[in-house]
Amino acid sequence: MKVDVLLGLQWGDEGKGKVVDVLTPNYDVVARFQGGPNAGHTLEFEGQKYVLRSIPSGIFQGDKVNIIGNGVVLDPSLFKAEAEALEMSGHPLKERLHISKKAHLILPTHRILDAAYEAAKGKSKVGTTGKGIGPTYTDKVSRNGLRVGDILHNFEEKYAAAKARHEDILKSMNYEYDITELEKQWLEAIEYLKEFHLVDSEHEINNLLKEGKTVLCEGAQGTMLDVDFGSYPFVTSSNTICAGACTGLGIGPNKIGEVYGIMKAYCTRVGAGPFPTELFDETGKKIRDLGHEYGAVTGRERRCGWIDLVALKYAIMVNGVTKLIMMKSDVLDDFETIKACVGYKIGGQEIDYFPFDIKEDDIEPVYVEMPGWKTDMTKFTSENEFPEEFNAYIDFLETQLETPIKIISIGPDRDQTIVRYTE
Ligand code: IMP
Ligand code: MG
Repeated sequence: MKVDVLLGLQWGDEGKGKVVDVLTPNYDVVARFQGGPNAGHTLEFEGQKYVLRSIPSGIFQGDKVNIIGNGVVLDPSLFKAEAEALEMSGHPLKERLHISKKAHLILPTHRILDAAYEAAKGKSKVGTTGKGIGPTYTDKVSRNGLRVGDILHNFEEKYAAAKARHEDILKSMNYEYDITELEKQWLEAIEYLKEFHLVDSEHEINNLLKEGKTVLCEGAQGTMLDVDFGSYPFVTSSNTICAGACTGLGIGPNKIGEVYGIMKAYCTRVGAGPFPTELFDETGKKIRDLGHEYGAVTGRERRCGWIDLVALKYAIMVNGVTKLIMMKSDVLDDFETIKACVGYKIGGQEIDYFPFDIKEDDIEPVYVEMPGWKTDMTKFTSENEFPEEFNAYIDFLETQLETPIKIISIGPDRDQTIVRYTE
């Protein structure tokens, strides 16, 4: 049986949570493979809104197995808060959720280090979510990390050693902090974590595949935030691309089936870093207001701009995307004209590929302009209802991106989802 992967092609917040939730009925297992509580996956159904951070979006549906893979970094405190809120709202998860023993733990001091490193960077700071993501992955790669499986044996000793190491670093940076309360909650949450199925998820997932089960891997963040291929150094600290599903779950590349790439009909970014199609005018503001573009984790205003096909082509290439999913097309329902970036002008020269360095100041986007569809599409139920201008827009995108757009989301609710073509 194959594993399908669903991931973001832009700077995150493409709407992955909603799509996983819509696609989940087709799968037996939903698995997260990277990132941590820096993610905020928003789902809306039956008049309720939920924000998931570490827990896979398949958790709402029946008897699916949900796996937090080894590639994820887990903050026990934030996990406990998230899990308890779900249980309170009538979504039991202790049986459904399996957590890899190899996932790395975010320590209270990782969060402090995240803040300290950002402060030290001053003006060139990344604008992280402050959840300790970078320092935790740093400890993983430098072979100093603590893993979920470590909580089962001699944990106090291991924790004390890691904390002491972090304290030395913070001392050398003269960074003031107080973790008393954070640490108390965190240690309580470690006990709570023990109540879950802590598993060797690479064995589990491969055994499930052998039994003929189907798996959907849920990416977090987006390709332009990938530590290797994103707009480095303004990136997150994990591989957000499709290959991350192999390393973050222990799945062989030959098991990957469909790669669903999610994009918004426009573009947003939170945090610092280059964003060639960013709009600073009324149009940008209109997109932000209509799209409610505020961070699910930090509440920060998202930067908004037109769709960037140069970056998208690059993202499709490095992920091997087989099908595209376009989100939030309804946000553009009321625009006279729609623009799509098809090239970058750098120092007077036009290029149509994603360059080594994208610096904010010297990139001028080259746009193709199309008439808007000026139609409220939010109640449509089939692609047959699409206005002509909208069809022209999606035809243009499919031609440029050389990949079919399989699903179009026309609103936040589960039901506002149009699946195109029958197979
Ligand atoms: P970190 O992942 O908290 O280290 O943040 C690094 C960069 O990635 C910052 O620009 C964040 O705003 C961005 N980022 C991290 N997670 C997300 C996400 O889930 N959606 C959008 N941006 C994110
Ligand atoms: Mg998000």
